[in-house]
Amino acid sequence: MPIMSAFMTPGTPILLSTWSFGLRGHAAAWPVLEAGGHAIDAVVDACTAIEADPEVDSVGYGGLPDRDGQVTLDACVMQSPSSCGSVCCLRHHLHAARIAREIMDSTSHVMLVGEAADAYADAVGEPRENLLSPEAAKAWESWKRDGTDVDQVRDAGRPVDQGGGRLFDAESRWAGHDTIGTLALDSMGVLAGACSTSGSPWKLPGRVGDSPIVGHGLYVDPDIGAVTATGTGELVMGVCGAMLGVEEMRRGADPTEALVTVLQRIESAYELEDNHQVGLVAIRRDGRIGSASLRGGFKVGYTSIDGDEVRDPEHVSHPGESG
Ligand code: GLY
Repeated sequence: MPIMSAFMTPGTPILLSTWSFGLRGHAAAWPVLEAGGHAIDAVVDACTAIEADPEVDSVGYGGLPDRDGQVTLDACVMQSPSSCGSVCCLRHHLHAARIAREIMDSTSHVMLVGEAADAYADAVGEPRENLLSPEAAKAWESWKRDGTDVDQVRDAGRPVDQGGGRLFDAESRWAGHDTIGTLALDSMGVLAGACSTSGSPWKLPGRVGDSPIVGHGLYVDPDIGAVTATGTGELVMGVCGAMLGVEEMRRGADPTEALVTVLQRIESAYELEDNHQVGLVAIRRDGRIGSASLRGGFKVGYTSIDGDEVRDPEHVSHPGESG
């Protein structure tokens, strides 16, 4: 059920996503907002479209598998602290964001995980699907053959936006972490967010990153704003990145300033590795947007009544260090 905020103000809708491929999701989501629909429907539609896109190798079908060659999917959706849903480690169902929304709407819980989450998806009529695309299987086989170290933190390139769905290539040794995170402000002034990921390629089986964890990969406070994250989930998790960004906006920070504080907190908490990257996007409840990343290579998809745009982030902490 769409949420109400005490401060709702009508206005023009906007969509903001991590990575240029976010615009593929906006193509599905914008008609919802343009017709006066709800932010939560738009963000779930955006993720659903990207989950089905085999060219996006970090989300849904086409996503790269874990160490054992199994694709597992994580997602969460959020409208407010009392209206959020999450699913982790789905192995048989593609539309993780839609399932997270179902958990939010139809249960008294926030998060379901693993086999039981797949069983829940069966029970609500989600179709079972093969999640491993032939191309992702080929990439995994080649990684197995190369014997690349499974420790992605030490031995990998950062995800770089190559202008389409592919973030991981042979040069980057296929490793990194990624996510589609989409935020929407609808014409009624209501915010929502969703994020969906296949997690880090070649991850240890069972690994879950920031994306499906409320407050880490996504946080929405209807009276303040919304933040979502992409990149090395472990870094975002250690500082509760999305919630920290929203809390900084609550303290009066401009959205990009708020995200810079999140990145500074990460840099003071971690010894950064060469392959680390974090990208963040934010919408304040008045429609002001922000974006920031640790390193170059991150792009932002933005859609408004003026059309679609791929933008560089407003702040890059280490601009000389693109992947
Ligand atoms: N940011 C996605 C992940 O680390 O799983």
